[in-house]
Amino acid sequence: EKFNYGMVGLGVMGRNLLYNIADNGFSIAGFDLDKLKVTELEDGATAGTTVSGTDSLEEFVAKLEIPRKIVLMVPAGKPVDAVLENIKPLLTKGDIVIDAGNSYFKDTNRRVADLATLGLHFMGMGVSGGEKGARFGPSIMPGGDLEAFHSVRPMLEAIAAKVNGESCTAYMGKDAAGHYVKMVHNGIEYAIMQLISESYDLLHRGAELSNYQLYEVFKDWNNGELNSFLIEITRDIFQQKDSVSDGFLLDQILDKAGSKGTGKWTSEEALENGVAIPTIDAAVASRTLSSYKDERILASKLYPKSEIAKPGNTELFVQEVGDALFLATLISYTQGLSLLVKASEEYHFEIPLKDVVKIWRGGCIIRSSLLETFYAAYTEDPNLSNILLNENISKLVKSKISSLRKTIGFATSNGISTLGLQTVLAYFDAYTTENLPVNLIQAQRDYFGAHTYQRKDQDGVFHTQWESTNH
Ligand code: 6PG
Repeated sequence: EKFNYGMVGLGVMGRNLLYNIADNGFSIAGFDLDKLKVTELEDGATAGTTVSGTDSLEEFVAKLEIPRKIVLMVPAGKPVDAVLENIKPLLTKGDIVIDAGNSYFKDTNRRVADLATLGLHFMGMGVSGGEKGARFGPSIMPGGDLEAFHSVRPMLEAIAAKVNGESCTAYMGKDAAGHYVKMVHNGIEYAIMQLISESYDLLHRGAELSNYQLYEVFKDWNNGELNSFLIEITRDIFQQKDSVSDGFLLDQILDKAGSKGTGKWTSEEALENGVAIPTIDAAVASRTLSSYKDERILASKLYPKSEIAKPGNTELFVQEVGDALFLATLISYTQGLSLLVKASEEYHFEIPLKDVVKIWRGGCIIRSSLLETFYAAYTEDPNLSNILLNENISKLVKSKISSLRKTIGFATSNGISTLGLQTVLAYFDAYTTENLPVNLIQAQRDYFGAHTYQRKDQDGVFHTQWESTNH
């Protein structure tokens, strides 16, 4: 009896995704070079499921029914190419290989073309939700070969998270669209995490709330319109005691943020395609700034800050920060989604925005109640170029904007860095301004470089011999 599916890579994500597939009634074989991971695989499987492991790639491939359906869950970059080089000679025409890691979308496009020359179907597929998601229901973003998608669709729908009985998976578009959507998901994830950390700083350092109080605030927030996975886990983080010291674990964690590249790729892509996503850029830059720990220590001594003037009414302040965070989160999604709109045109991905927000409602790291609101907006108009242009969303935004202004006012006057929140406000103010001061930039460009400009009152392109008064 041959196996329905194969999984290459039995690390945390691969193993959990494999068990999820098995629990849903599909037989699955696993491969990893690490013998220990292979032996542990069968012990961890649910009784009654059909799971088998091997550290021989030949044996693994021979175990699979034809056409083979193989999921790769190995680190992005060279490891994916290494696996493909080794496995290609063992596969036959019509087999399907699905890369479920966080691969760079340009690598995915290259691999699609490469495997197609052998008659093999290659799909890039974003999977979000971490370890628990992989095991019990992630959000799954497949793209690429439509025929291949249809043959794995029943499995994907079975293992994905469910919202109102609907699976959090859908076809994200052609070529590397699946990995592109996952990359932007991660860019938004970076932005929201940055905004939550700034809100924490404002409440903790600014209003002197203790971890107990922060737990309560985030609990309230999670029960209201800020309801989301990231707020929920942040709530729990405030409660976690440390096993080494007798305080909270959070207070012992060094303030240097790591990253694996997806946030940076999102920013690079936005620059490349002429899309403004300043809050995602700010989130990437903030992680970079955080890594200058030694310099920050020196600079904090050289430029000591005056004492923070605590807000007069803590309750009101908490509410304002919550509203500011809500609006800033909304505008972070807005920026990411606007990049998807542009990329979809540019690369002919044909990304269905409505399905993107639909499948982000459950399973993924950026799942939140807000996505339901976005889903309603895209249902009304699937071609909405920017979420902010939706009537209902404009009402939400208008009800929160003054809180964002006040929160940033407090932050700037007290020297608390809010790179994320400030970019949200600056983006919003620019996006909603009919006449920006770039008429002056155009004049300067034409002055020193004859770069020409357009006029408000006439069509055409103009150049002026600007007069210098420097006689
Ligand atoms: C997810 C996460 C996941 C992972 C990121 C973290 O959707 O499940 O985004 O993909 O946690 O790789 O990225 P950084 O290490 O760059 O923060």
